[in-house]
Amino acid sequence: MTDPTDTRPPEAEPAPPAAPAGDGADLARRRFFRQFAGDLFHGAAGVVGAAQAIQRVSAEAASAILDPSSVAIGGAAAVPVVPAPPTGFRTPFRETPGVLHLVDQRKLPDVLEEYRVRTASETAFAIREMIVRGAPAIGQVGAIGLTLTADKARTTRPYARRATLRGAAKTLINARPTAVNLRWAVERVMAAYEAVGDLSEDGDAIADAMRAEADTIVFETTEDHGRLATFGLEELTFPEDRPLRILTHCNTGPLACGQFGTALGVVQAAHHAGRAVHVWVDETRPYLQGARLTAWELAQAGVPHTLIPDVAAGHLMANGEVDAILVGADRIAANGDTANKVGTYTLAVLAARHGVPFFVAAPISTVDLATPDGASIPIEERKANEVLFVRGVSIAPPDTEVRNPAFDVTPSDLITGIVSDEGVIRAPFPEGLAEAVARRELRRKSAPGFAAVSAAAIAPVAPVADAEEPAPPPPTPAVVES
Ligand code: MRU
Repeated sequence: MTDPTDTRPPEAEPAPPAAPAGDGADLARRRFFRQFAGDLFHGAAGVVGAAQAIQRVSAEAASAILDPSSVAIGGAAAVPVVPAPPTGFRTPFRETPGVLHLVDQRKLPDVLEEYRVRTASETAFAIREMIVRGAPAIGQVGAIGLTLTADKARTTRPYARRATLRGAAKTLINARPTAVNLRWAVERVMAAYEAVGDLSEDGDAIADAMRAEADTIVFETTEDHGRLATFGLEELTFPEDRPLRILTHCNTGPLACGQFGTALGVVQAAHHAGRAVHVWVDETRPYLQGARLTAWELAQAGVPHTLIPDVAAGHLMANGEVDAILVGADRIAANGDTANKVGTYTLAVLAARHGVPFFVAAPISTVDLATPDGASIPIEERKANEVLFVRGVSIAPPDTEVRNPAFDVTPSDLITGIVSDEGVIRAPFPEGLAEAVARRELRRKSAPGFAAVSAAAIAPVAPVADAEEPAPPPPTPAVVES
């Protein structure tokens, strides 16, 4: 039986091939290590210097974490009798002119396909339906999606443009209410619009300013996630005689973040640094981000891991088989209370009971000082069919009443430390978080920034073969503009 709510026409294309093997792979790996040394970003951006280049650098960095030498398989035709998961990682989003291509995360690990969007409302649909998911990824994708609509409104009259852009921003923000990165990124792009003038006649200036802000967000995220992974690696204590056993929940790798990842970014930094790690991967009911996405990413990265049912975590902790818990976050309130994928709170309570350190890994962009505490964080409730069906197969009597909160809140007193791009923040969290937010703002202002780096460009971006491929015109999903 298939999911009866899924009535939309497919908008799919096989993902383009991954980065080439051999020299290309070596180069990508070298770039990855330079990122952690802190110099990739400005160096690479200074050479190629344009928005598309920044996204390509992000993609290469993510590809280098995973296996850039593997070959992508797209679509069912390549699937043998016993299906093997496709390989060949691509960044979860990339662009060709006027089109944002999203890896369709609903279909992984069976099929690696992209889904195309061309407007903010189509982007909101893709976010709501979890074609793209993960707090940092939906922030970046939401920002770019908004610029697609701004681009189409270059010649629209000011009042109509303002209504379109404000409506589009609202639709995007409401697509997923818990992850603050989405609201934050959309509001930043809208602020760039307001700075030009909300009723300005100059549609080109508006579209260009919004685009520059979206590119800046991608640029900063790449740097932030590299810093976060470095701080996280420093925080971990590795046993001499065996791997460090880390338990994680949901998916916090490049698919969820666009770049290195948060909790999984730390894991992969440790792996690349030659430190022995073994990851317990919670399957993450009901949507199975752990089983479908984290296990897939770790397999490609060559990180040893074992998939466990969510309900087995307590047993492993009681047996002394978990050294640390490392999870991501969708929103961190001013007092440190943290919303993350449902089931995280349960892990934190178990960790406290068994004396296991419980770390949240999140960029400062996930901290929301305007939300005072966990009780004030909106928790998204999702549709019943995500619980009643597992990948299209019915597992409960039809019409069974369901409650499906997608997130829960871990009180700050259960958190050992928040690993961020401004270092590891510990209790008292209100002070630590406020200081970290201020430091990040200073860093942002004092860094050369994307605009400066791209303005210094000396050469246009070299065309990227796979990104230049003309896409056949697909049917546009029937998304209602609000
Ligand atoms: O519902 P999802 O899959 O978007 O939830 C994702 C998570 O809860 C992640 O842990 C979170 O976004 C933080 S890190 C990417």
